[in-house]
Amino acid sequence: MSIKVYIYKSFERFWHWMQAFLIFFLAATGFEIHGSYVFFGYQNAVEYHNIAAYAFIILIVFAIFWHFSTGEWKQYLPTVRNLRAQVNFYLLGIFKNAPHPTKKSVLSKLNPLQKLVYLGLKILVIPVMVLSGLLYMYYRYPQQAGIEGLRIESLEPIAIIHTAGAFLLIAFIITHLYLITTGHTITSNLKAMITGYEDIEEEDDYEENAENEKIIEEESSDIADESTENKSETESETENKI
Ligand code: HEM
Repeated sequence: MSIKVYIYKSFERFWHWMQAFLIFFLAATGFEIHGSYVFFGYQNAVEYHNIAAYAFIILIVFAIFWHFSTGEWKQYLPTVRNLRAQVNFYLLGIFKNAPHPTKKSVLSKLNPLQKLVYLGLKILVIPVMVLSGLLYMYYRYPQQAGIEGLRIESLEPIAIIHTAGAFLLIAFIITHLYLITTGHTITSNLKAMITGYEDIEEEDDYEENAENEKIIEEESSDIADESTENKSETESETENKI
């Protein structure tokens, strides 16, 4: 049986959709700057890309504050538990209608594969994009101010790193869009990120766990009874001998 659980808080949903929009917009304007196509016009694309980049940095600051003040950062602590089952599910099980190997809950919203990928985005890909983007933006500024520490002689390495990160993010977006459709129903994950509520199969689990706990309790009390019986038998035998 499934129950409706409020899983994504309002700030979380706002942050998710703003981030999605900004990354999409940064990619669209970025690849125009790269020369892949013409849409806004080069000069406008550069201007829009810079504005969106500042908005993205502000959003990141708020998101970091939210993650630490709510303790939600713990959701991203990586684990190998169930990782292989999750990979097998995406590679094979999903095509045979196998059940999801990881059950979602308020305290654990992400499966082990999501934990790894999202953590990688948060601590590696996005920081690299922000840093390389800022270096791109302020190229020559540090040298002009006499800061020799960076010693970047050419824009090329920064451009290559920034573009490689952009391709990685595009690959992530495509995979993410596909995986959104793999919830209980084709739209359940999407609806959850819009409304905050998700249907979670917890009742069965809960009952199953409760049932198991009951059996374990009964078994352990049986064992305890048996051992008291044995103990009293031995005691009475000893008494008889005396
Ligand atoms: C805070 C984050 C970011 C900052 C500060 C930033 C900044 C910049 C700057 C200054 C440029 C060069 C513009 C010019 O030539 O005048 C640029 C180019 C570019 N950006 Fe970003 N950007 C950021 C995030 C992103 C993201 C998230 C993506 C993609 C998803 C992206 C994709 C690109 C691409 C593809 C280029 C063209 C690179 C090239 O051809 O050399 N950027 N970015």
